[in-house]
Amino acid sequence: MPDLDQTVRDIAEEMRARPDRGEVATYIPELANVDPGAFGIAVVDAEGHVAAAGDCDMAFSIQSISKVFTLTLALGKIGDRLWRRVGREPSGSAFNSIVQLEAEHGIPRNPFINAGAIAVTDAILSGHQPREALGEILRFLQFIAEDPNISIDEKVAASEQRTGFRNRALANYMMAFDVLENPVDYTLGVYFHHCAIAMTCRQLAMAGRFLMHGGRNPSTGFSVVSPERARRINAVMLTCGHYDGSGEFAYRVGLPGKSGVGGGILAVAPRKASIAVWSPGLDASGNSHLGRIALEMLTQRMGWSIF
Ligand code: DON
Repeated sequence: MPDLDQTVRDIAEEMRARPDRGEVATYIPELANVDPGAFGIAVVDAEGHVAAAGDCDMAFSIQSISKVFTLTLALGKIGDRLWRRVGREPSGSAFNSIVQLEAEHGIPRNPFINAGAIAVTDAILSGHQPREALGEILRFLQFIAEDPNISIDEKVAASEQRTGFRNRALANYMMAFDVLENPVDYTLGVYFHHCAIAMTCRQLAMAGRFLMHGGRNPSTGFSVVSPERARRINAVMLTCGHYDGSGEFAYRVGLPGKSGVGGGILAVAPRKASIAVWSPGLDASGNSHLGRIALEMLTQRMGWSIF
């Protein structure tokens, strides 16, 4: 078995030197200011050892990776009733697509496409004030990452709030089918802000630990979700975590993973590791170009693919 620390350092070095970096997202203007040359990686193994390299301690916008944690919270809150409002099938379309909603009664295909994540956020709100729901999401992340130093990048939130016309369309469309229960502005406000949470690779890999260990944080022994729920969240990550690039990600990396347009990816190697990578340049599906390549190298070198 190759040495994990050395493997992680090697990958960071190889990624730093690559000229092909993808395109930084610009549809949220604030994200366009990020350095495309950045690359970070952090891996927490089953013994709690952290192997990290590159820009692993630089905070970035987690964007859609937040949807793993909001799904976990919403399931904790309303249980399997959540699946009446959102499906769990891959969409085969872009993350911000609206086309399926009309034919499918306003029920989004899965909790990770934007429409689905907005429905999940609405379930977390369930009548509370947006500020309370956001506080709950942040506290949950700080708790599972064991790090109080996780916050919302207000500039990114405001930037998306100003330009999020598609998300507004999705939310209003779902409202017309009674899929949402709270005022659209409340739900979107919470959604934009949880997407704007900033975390480092190290914090994100720590936060993902419960998914590699049957729902339990391996170092504290504290149970975050049941083993059955952890297994199911991983299944949705594998099939839907990279939108219309989910098949390619499973084919190349072979792990459940969730990407964000900030260029981060959280991946889970069951019983072996929780992994976070970050490189801001994206591929055509809106997933981190070098992040995916780095994960492919890591799983190949460590023999971590689930297949
Ligand atoms: O709603 C949006 O478009 C963004 N806040 C999140 C999208 C995203 O991260 C898609 N991931 N690749």
